[in-house]
Amino acid sequence: MNFTHAIVKKPCQNIIKGITRANLGFPNYELALAQHQKYVEALESCSLNVILREADENYPDSTFVEDTAVMTRECAVITNPGALSRKGEIAAIEPIIKKYFKKIERIESPGTLEGGDVMDVDGFYYIGLSERTNRKGAQQFLDILRKYGMDGMMVGMSEMLHLKTGLSYLGNNVLMSAGEFQTNSLFADFSKIKVLHQETYAANCININGKVIVPSGFHESRKMIEIYGFETIALDMSEFQKVDGGLSCLSLRFVSEI
Ligand code: GLY
Repeated sequence: MNFTHAIVKKPCQNIIKGITRANLGFPNYELALAQHQKYVEALESCSLNVILREADENYPDSTFVEDTAVMTRECAVITNPGALSRKGEIAAIEPIIKKYFKKIERIESPGTLEGGDVMDVDGFYYIGLSERTNRKGAQQFLDILRKYGMDGMMVGMSEMLHLKTGLSYLGNNVLMSAGEFQTNSLFADFSKIKVLHQETYAANCININGKVIVPSGFHESRKMIEIYGFETIALDMSEFQKVDGGLSCLSLRFVSEI
């Protein structure tokens, strides 16, 4: 996956009020900040220009910028988050995106869509129908893709927060999969790394320019990724895991010549 840029946003102190069903306790703000700094350094070590924005205390989950937009090779799509407390996050992302994308599209109510539900497989987009992304939002997104000569498909789901909570495309036809996605016939043609139940959190990882960033502490998953030939970088994500945030959630990665 060749990217040139990533947008990231520092966690705010209100991250302790972030939406969660993890049952792992409250994040420690100072530790979250330190882990975020390491995340930025890892992206930079993969040759990304990192666009770092300051924290926004109005939005506890706003460090999870991935949910606010989807960057394609043809256009950027500003989403309409399904979580009410997150809808306002999109206002801050648009001015940044405008600098890099000439074509900007939007998901409009009653459609909802969050970027965590969109998985890019070499320009084909799988869209999870989750509690955050509804059929109308997914259809709007498909219509946008088709307008620009791209395509995708919807994926039914019932267990995970987002599609990419349980699926990550690593490139070379390799898919990390957890839980309900391991037996989904839509993904039968991929080489699948089946993440162990106790390592489900590791199903969300990101390939940045050939290096796969994985959450630390999930040894079997990391070992499998390396067996498939990918170099890995492990990052401690403990404070983000407490509020249901994964590695992909913390950045919006894209290609730009600017
Ligand atoms: N706490 C991340 C989310 O639920 O969107």
